[in-house]
Amino acid sequence: MELKLENTTYSTGMFSLGPIATRIPEGSITVIMGKNGSGKSTTLRLMHGDLKPSGGSVTLEGKEVWKIRPVDLARRMSFVAQEINDPLSFTVKDVMMVSGYARDLNEAEMLDSLEIFNIRHFLYSSFNSLSGGERRLVTIAASVYQGSDIMIMDEPTNFLDVDNQLLVYEVLNELKRKGKTIVLAMHDISAVSAISDYIIMLKNGELVDQGPTSRTLTVENLKKVFNVPFRTYRTDRGVGFISPAIKGGNEVPLEES
Ligand SMILES: Nc1ncnc2c1ncn2[C@@H]1O[C@H](COP(=O)(O)OP(=O)(O)O)[C@@H](O)[C@H]1O
Ligand SMILES: [Mg+2]
Repeated sequence: MELKLENTTYSTGMFSLGPIATRIPEGSITVIMGKNGSGKSTTLRLMHGDLKPSGGSVTLEGKEVWKIRPVDLARRMSFVAQEINDPLSFTVKDVMMVSGYARDLNEAEMLDSLEIFNIRHFLYSSFNSLSGGERRLVTIAASVYQGSDIMIMDEPTNFLDVDNQLLVYEVLNELKRKGKTIVLAMHDISAVSAISDYIIMLKNGELVDQGPTSRTLTVENLKKVFNVPFRTYRTDRGVGFISPAIKGGNEVPLEES
């Protein structure tokens, strides 16, 4: 399912994004990187048709995304927002039902999607009573249940403890193996290095670079995007590792290269 941005711009009085041209590689994991306020969420919301581009286009199978009927879009694309707030008093089951409203109801699959994240027992809990991390897992489980080919998630591992972060990354890889096209905004550079196939780098709303992770995730690009020094390390397994160079920080017990 082709998701394409062509000469896409978006402007508010204070902020302007783009022009961005990209074609999201299908069946792989694309990550949008950039500082806070660089336009990651805006780009994801344009991809999901929540925003109408000021110029250029965002198309899914050749159709402008913002013009696609919500029910048709929901069958093709899911969206996990960065901010989670439920103004209504939904149960977890309600959240799952809303996310899956465009598909056939399948309670067994709904429970399976929750079980992946070990949160099946929350089915009848009030969504608002859960912790930030638990709510985050519910929204990810809901997008798994939705079952669309393209899955967009804005900082999906925010609020999660380390083992749940790893679980989410494992699930994303599994979804990729099943052929899903995944687009994420993410900050954790070592995680980006481990799971992404393609990277789009933004700075102040401008596209700095994009391409396969092996080519784009470089110290030079990171320095350009984040304005801080980075170090690369080589582990005993020969795997390259990049981390911010923290002033006065502990020496990392790895060989610096
Ligand atoms: N609804 C909005 N109205 C006006 N400005 C907004 C709105 N949403 C985001 N912005 C601004 O647009 C810029 C980009 O925001 P965003 O895309 O959320 O960045 P990121 O996700 O990379 O942190 C920021 O300066 C932000 O303050
Ligand atoms: Mg954001």
